[in-house]
Amino acid sequence: MKVCVVGTGYVGLTTGVSLAFLGHQVTCVDLDQDKVDMLRAGHCPIYEPGMDDLLAEAAANLTFTTSYEQAVPGADVVFVAVQTPSAADGSPDLRYLRSAAESVAQNLDNDFTVVVNKSTVPIGSGNWVDAILRDSFALRDDRPEQCEFAVASNPEFLREGNAIHDTLFPDRIVIGSDNPRSLEVLNRLYRPIINQTFTAPSFAPRPDDTTAVPLVSTDLASAELIKYAANAFLALKISFVNEIGQLAGKVGADITEVARGIGLDQRIGSRFLQPGVGWGGSCFGKDTKALIATGAEYNYEMPIVQAARDINQRQRAIAVERLQDELRILKGRRIGLLGIAFKPNTDDLRDSPSLDIANLLIARGARVRLHDPIAGERFKREQPELAPFLSETIDGAFDDCDAVVLVTEWAQYLELDWGKVVGLMRTPIVLDGRNVLGRDRMTRLGFKYLSMAG
Ligand code: UDX
Repeated sequence: MKVCVVGTGYVGLTTGVSLAFLGHQVTCVDLDQDKVDMLRAGHCPIYEPGMDDLLAEAAANLTFTTSYEQAVPGADVVFVAVQTPSAADGSPDLRYLRSAAESVAQNLDNDFTVVVNKSTVPIGSGNWVDAILRDSFALRDDRPEQCEFAVASNPEFLREGNAIHDTLFPDRIVIGSDNPRSLEVLNRLYRPIINQTFTAPSFAPRPDDTTAVPLVSTDLASAELIKYAANAFLALKISFVNEIGQLAGKVGADITEVARGIGLDQRIGSRFLQPGVGWGGSCFGKDTKALIATGAEYNYEMPIVQAARDINQRQRAIAVERLQDELRILKGRRIGLLGIAFKPNTDDLRDSPSLDIANLLIARGARVRLHDPIAGERFKREQPELAPFLSETIDGAFDDCDAVVLVTEWAQYLELDWGKVVGLMRTPIVLDGRNVLGRDRMTRLGFKYLSMAG
């Protein structure tokens, strides 16, 4: 099928490259000429494991352009995956979505095109995009006679760092539209994934237990809500384990054992019960905020989702309190922070706990040193105020420090020779912000081990 993807961020690029890999003819349009040039040269503008390889494998079916005139005509499906940053009041800023929809409408010419909202947009945005498309289309002098279109929602559930795997081997595919023909087109588009009929790429082998992928084919509003509800649920699972973690510390229980003990109940499930400094990234914070904002439009409070957010924020402050309890005085102390990206295997810094923890420490007079195996360059660009505190080497984050905090559980840190770096520190205190280092091991190596749970 012929596919157009608007926006080559995480979501758009992964969608476009994966669909091209599956054999569809894909044109990706992005207004950023530099990005398009880079992609044309076969380079991926984001750090995502496997993406360069998939780009190369899919190259024959892929075109990159800045021109909607080139990308939209003839498309069976147009994915809109543009950024929706938070506006000042917390609601998503939809101006890019509006202008993308207008540009798409200017160029529609196929007898039937499905326009898919791939960005995470507030519930109701499907209708809003539909109205924009119809208004802009009606204003065209050159509008073709045989040209129909409909809007669908097809949320993605991909994790950064696992984007390709999550796209090719998803737990489910959700498509929503109030137009049955769109559902049929999208069903056809995704058939290779639904039936798992494609040959998996060598760098992303099919997991042993992958069978047919369930398809949730539903109405527009339900598909839109599924995305928010899924992210809010995952977010509150993390906040729940963190809330229990604090109590565990107070009553003398071991949160690792508690999480294992509850996670084995299949109704609960063991994933997303890893306690620590909490979630970050582009989705959970933004989506929980947007969900609450949607509730407010209907005069409906969402206290559970709000509590998940509050607890997540509190974990960041608790990390600083733990250090203060131990060191008594933070002023003048040298503290190393291991990890700047919001999670391992990405250089994404959005809503990263590390940035908040660094700022809280600096506000209390501490001298911080931040290290990250991958995100350093991006950190310098995006966080100029904190950039002077970057340590280019891991050793630099330990050197003469009064404490180090493991904020992001990069493999490099887990595999580190902790027995060696302990000797670099002024006082060997480690705060395990991800509950992954092991109290016994660290104590044996000579560290004073602090966990988030006390
Ligand atoms: C998430 C969702 O998983 C994905 O479905 C959605 O489409 C976008 O948001 P992502 O933000 O890439 O994906 O990261 P994910 O791997 O889900 O982790 C989110 C955050 O939760 C990270 O900061 C991670 O460190 C934290 N986390 C995760 C925990 O603190 N504990 C856990 O047990 C799991």
